[in-house]
Amino acid sequence: MPSPTICVIDDHQDIRSALVEMLQLADYRVTAFSSAKDALETLDRNFTGIVISDIRMPNMDGFELLSRLQKLDSDLPVLLITGHGDVQMAISAIRSGAYDFIEKPFRREHLLEVIKRALDKRQLVCENRRLKDAIASQNKESIIGQSSAINSLKEKITRLAKADVNTLIRGETGTGKELTARRLHEQSDRHKGPFVAINCAALPESMMEVELFGHEAGAFTDAKKTRIGKFEYAHQGTIFLDEVESIPLALAIKILRVLQERQVERLGSNQSINIDIRVIAATKVDLKKLSEQGAFREDLYYRLNVVELYLPPLRERDQDVAMLFRYFVSQASGRFNVPAPELSVHIIDTLMQHDWPGNVRELINVAERFVLTDTLIDQHTLASWQSDTDQQSLPKRLERYEKRLIEEALLQSQGSIKLTYQALGIARKTLYDKLTKYGLDRHRFIDDQ
Ligand SMILES: Nc1ncnc2c1ncn2[C@@H]1O[C@H](COP(=O)(O)OP(=O)(O)OP(=O)(O)O)[C@@H](O)[C@H]1O
Ligand SMILES: [Mg+2]
Repeated sequence: MPSPTICVIDDHQDIRSALVEMLQLADYRVTAFSSAKDALETLDRNFTGIVISDIRMPNMDGFELLSRLQKLDSDLPVLLITGHGDVQMAISAIRSGAYDFIEKPFRREHLLEVIKRALDKRQLVCENRRLKDAIASQNKESIIGQSSAINSLKEKITRLAKADVNTLIRGETGTGKELTARRLHEQSDRHKGPFVAINCAALPESMMEVELFGHEAGAFTDAKKTRIGKFEYAHQGTIFLDEVESIPLALAIKILRVLQERQVERLGSNQSINIDIRVIAATKVDLKKLSEQGAFREDLYYRLNVVELYLPPLRERDQDVAMLFRYFVSQASGRFNVPAPELSVHIIDTLMQHDWPGNVRELINVAERFVLTDTLIDQHTLASWQSDTDQQSLPKRLERYEKRLIEEALLQSQGSIKLTYQALGIARKTLYDKLTKYGLDRHRFIDDQ
């Protein structure tokens, strides 16, 4: 983004020059105009700076200019210059939507402070727009991010999707392994076929075997009907072996055979069924090391790892944090049908400094809570949200929020029932009901000191 410019408009040459000089001395880039009309010809929605304009000018005055600029871009900060002591005019300027007014003669400190605030605001608006455009230009369900790691991942997905080779995806929890696997499938020639996911850590060994291979009727006591396994289901599509490091050694040899021979036998049958599948596996651990230690079959490792995709944790790609957060905030506000709270520079900074042990999944939770609660996000909030159990339902989350609001109101009113229900705008009885429901004791909030 080019460094922002301040656009100065005043018909008086001496005032204009004084202002320009003051701003240039403070290291700002300035363009100056002697009429509103000239300035309007150069300004558009892509202008990343702010406007400072005199009010009293021949032809088009400052108010008229302001109203035109608001039509052009309602988020463009316009500062109007008022005469000393002209209170009425200052009030009208603000009423008409000016960002602020500056009094003549200029007081340097004050002027620079107002300008800095206006520029910060403008920068945020422009950054939001830029990211919004970038997000809009990306496919829905697509992989969001602009770090070099994500850019190279997207390139690799496009290339590998067509290659139809077994692929191993490695990354910490919540980094997007399953999303990547799905994208590989969707962009491949197999996209019309099924994408079958199985979590290798979720089931005990014997059930896992049945899940993968299926069985014939009567294969064992509980096997009343023939059952098709996931390998067979995935025919002409992709099978996704999630948490592949958990595959027990005994089962690993059977899986290896399927990958080598492209055939499965249902349990209790000697008949081999040909299958055409692509295998994508995901792991949170260093599978190579595990196989060197003998905890994972080395031959299976090499079979799976024809190519490896590594997804770096979120804390190593700060550039993605803001973009992902904005994306999920806008998604959540659409889903919950509530307006998206404003994102300040401070919030974005805090998010970028956070460690994100749960990676993108954690970030989605934070974005949803932010939308639902509109809380100021700081290190403290993030830490307390982290300790709450994740993946709770919306009603549970709302309850937690309600409880917190009541606690805060009780704290404010030092345990006074009356002040609390008044502050919350609810009936006395409702408050009592909720205190019981959440096990809150108002006496805890009375300050004894
Ligand atoms: N770059 C990204 N862009 C958009 N959404 C993402 C991105 N990375 C992850 N997600 C989303 O984050 C959530 C977690 O991702 P996913 O389930 O793919 O992670 P995972 O690595 O499989 O996690 P786990 O190891 O815990 O199973 C999903 O909702 C996914 O859509
Ligand atoms: Mg996963």
